[in-house]
Amino acid sequence: MSVVTKKKEQAVVIRQEEVAEDIYSMWIKTQAAETARPGQFVNLYCHDSGMILPRPISICEIDKERGALRVVYRVNGKGTDLFSRYVAGDEIELMGPLGNGFPTDIPQKKAILIGGGIGIPPMLELAKQLRNSSSVVLGYRDFPFLKEEFVKTGSSVYVATEDGSMGTKGNVIGAIMENNLGADVIFACGPTPMLRAVKKFAQVRKIKCYISMEERMACGVGACLGCVVETVDVDDHSKVHNARVCKDGPVFDAEEVNI
Ligand SMILES: Cc1cc2nc3c(=O)[nH]c(=O)nc-3n(C[C@H](O)[C@H](O)[C@H](O)COP(=O)(O)OP(=O)(O)OC[C@H]3O[C@@H](n4cnc5c(N)ncnc54)[C@H](O)[C@@H]3O)c2cc1C
Ligand code: FES
Repeated sequence: MSVVTKKKEQAVVIRQEEVAEDIYSMWIKTQAAETARPGQFVNLYCHDSGMILPRPISICEIDKERGALRVVYRVNGKGTDLFSRYVAGDEIELMGPLGNGFPTDIPQKKAILIGGGIGIPPMLELAKQLRNSSSVVLGYRDFPFLKEEFVKTGSSVYVATEDGSMGTKGNVIGAIMENNLGADVIFACGPTPMLRAVKKFAQVRKIKCYISMEERMACGVGACLGCVVETVDVDDHSKVHNARVCKDGPVFDAEEVNI
């Protein structure tokens, strides 16, 4: 079993703003931008000796020219609350890019990108890199953060809201059905119940499906087995039906994991 030996770096906050209630967008100047791909994540560390574990946050946008990454995150607990107070010029300890990312080298196929809740941010860079060729389906509890930025990518954007305040009332599968969307490949990120429904939908329609999992993590670099997901196949090394979301994922072929 290999363990990531990436080093931490002192990155610098370029700017930060609240884009919806308790949801923050932060641009960070970091070397990780050089090699980052959509679907990968970074580990952000807190300036607090009482919080030594990193907080994994997906890469939302990549600006290789400026050497910058954007993350969009919800304030969830102590760590993300601390990050939300950072302003331009503040240093932030970061390790990345981590994880495998979405496969973007598959021959140009009709894709549906599905994001649910805080699984929406990583789909933005993917939508940009797939260049107009995709439909994007976004599932919100209420306020549709980042929606206009997806529209700017040239993708066709569909929305589902739980309260029916915008788009389809209900979930992302409802929005796909209502708009009669079809595809050769699905990429999805969001809460596990949503990923389960997406996997089932793809199985029934015989569509290739990749899901990005946001399992609870500890070390974030493959060392502690705190983030395992059950797999269909037995791992060569450990001889068990396990994969580490932080190292082997976070993106998996939906058929390879039991969720
Ligand atoms: C691959 C990946 C990508 C993610 N991308 C995003 C993103 O783009 N935007 C976003 O808002 N959130 C994202 N998350 C969830 C985010 O990591 C947690 O919300 C965050 O770690 C919570 O930290 P906290 O200190 O605020 O909360 P606390 O509950 O105080 O955290 C305590 C500990 O539990 C871990 N933890 C708590 N919740 C989660 C969780 N859901 N996933 C993983 N570890 C957790 C923390 O890292 C920390 O070590 C992602 C998670 C993973 C695994
Ligand atoms: S979080 Fe430690 S192995 Fe994944």
